[in-house]
Amino acid sequence: MSTLIKNGRIITAEQDYRADIYIEKDLITTIGSNLNMHADSVIDAKGKYVIPGGIDVHTHLDMPFGGTTSCDDFETGTRAAAFGGTTCIVDFATQSKGSRMRNALDIWWKKAEGKATIDYGLHMIVTDLPEAHLEDMSDMVREGVTSFKLFMAYPNVLMADDATIFRAMRHTAKTGALVCMHAENGSVIDLIVQQALAEGKTAPIFHALTRPTTAEAEAVNRSIALAEMAGAPVYIVHLSCNDALEKVAEARDKGLPVYAETCPQYLFLSLDDMNKPGFEDAKVVFTPPLREKWNHEKLWSGLKKNTLQVVSTDHCPFCFKEQKELGKNNFTKIPNGGPGIEHRLQLMFDGGVRQGRISLNRWVELTSTTPAKMFGLYPRKGTIAVGSDADIVIWDPEKDYTISVKTHHMAVDYSMFEGRKVKGNIDTVFSRGEKIIQNDRFLSKAGRGNFVKRDTYAGAWK
Ligand code: URP
Ligand code: ZN
Ligand code: ZN
Repeated sequence: MSTLIKNGRIITAEQDYRADIYIEKDLITTIGSNLNMHADSVIDAKGKYVIPGGIDVHTHLDMPFGGTTSCDDFETGTRAAAFGGTTCIVDFATQSKGSRMRNALDIWWKKAEGKATIDYGLHMIVTDLPEAHLEDMSDMVREGVTSFKLFMAYPNVLMADDATIFRAMRHTAKTGALVCMHAENGSVIDLIVQQALAEGKTAPIFHALTRPTTAEAEAVNRSIALAEMAGAPVYIVHLSCNDALEKVAEARDKGLPVYAETCPQYLFLSLDDMNKPGFEDAKVVFTPPLREKWNHEKLWSGLKKNTLQVVSTDHCPFCFKEQKELGKNNFTKIPNGGPGIEHRLQLMFDGGVRQGRISLNRWVELTSTTPAKMFGLYPRKGTIAVGSDADIVIWDPEKDYTISVKTHHMAVDYSMFEGRKVKGNIDTVFSRGEKIIQNDRFLSKAGRGNFVKRDTYAGAWK
């Protein structure tokens, strides 16, 4: 099967030029002007951008969490991702306490089997790391699971103590793998939460009000210190506020290998969006929580200056009915997480590029190229180059779209961005050379997505 994409404007992290792209089977094999080659299918991309497919390195599909399970599985979640122009995800397998990482890997492979419609990698969430099992981390790296998430929040559930975090980091310093850190001071937050409950504060807004920005900044700072002592890099996930951003900036100014991502919810939503009647605010209960609005421009500035290198979604969807409702009388029982896998590229294009906050190249860099570099997928993915996987999105910069539960493809019963109008959306999506979406129709089938064995970070990207 061969495809020729003609007349498009190719945008990568570094380049912006007009050329044709020839795809044979899974790969891009030729890029050039006015290509005159026979192809099974020819697509005219005149007036459109041709970009590498998005890479979302923070998703939670079919994940047991908060007494329930995230409602997108690998089929609905990866299909929704593709409808948003994302052609590869890195999801989180969770090690159960008292169990080995290998078990978690087998479980997550099973979850994806026959379901994934785009390629996927896996991180490992580490909940239990006795010295005797440290070699499990090397085993994971050999399997292509080259990043490990540890939690400084959720005491007695997912939280790792400093010694465990340090032990994991010392190990990644040797293997070239990367620790991803959920940075919030869970023990202190727990005390604040208990006090709020004792005072009868049970509504969803108190989820946000009991998780101060200082608790995030303190944990970011501590994780950086632990990484420095271990001689390892650290990647802060879902950074939400300026207090935490300042800690990352300080570390990077010192030349430390400290990286961070933020997510669209922290760039477009704020505490002002938690003023709905009844229990509605539960729809935006996730951790870290929404912050005061003034943080938005600080985060955008961090994205511009490269203090923040990646935009992911932290897609962790729970339906409002029956799932979020578990916390109707007590905000601590609301499963934490929000849906976003489908709208990252649209939001970052409309709110970032169109608003003049970031360039077209930076848009691609934040949503595809740097995620690929950070997580060992580059140059196989994350760029448009001869020899790369033909994960390609033809993007229509003029297409109007209204984000809504009525039209989205995620299995969740609400949208965090309901009614938001954006300009710029996918036209056609290719995954490894196969046209999987065109004219708003999914053309492929579940199970075609492959597990990708990732290389190590290994300091390959600064
Ligand atoms: O609330 C969130 N973010 N849920 C997903 C799990 C995590 O901490 O990333
Ligand atoms: Zn987290
Ligand atoms: Zn997450």
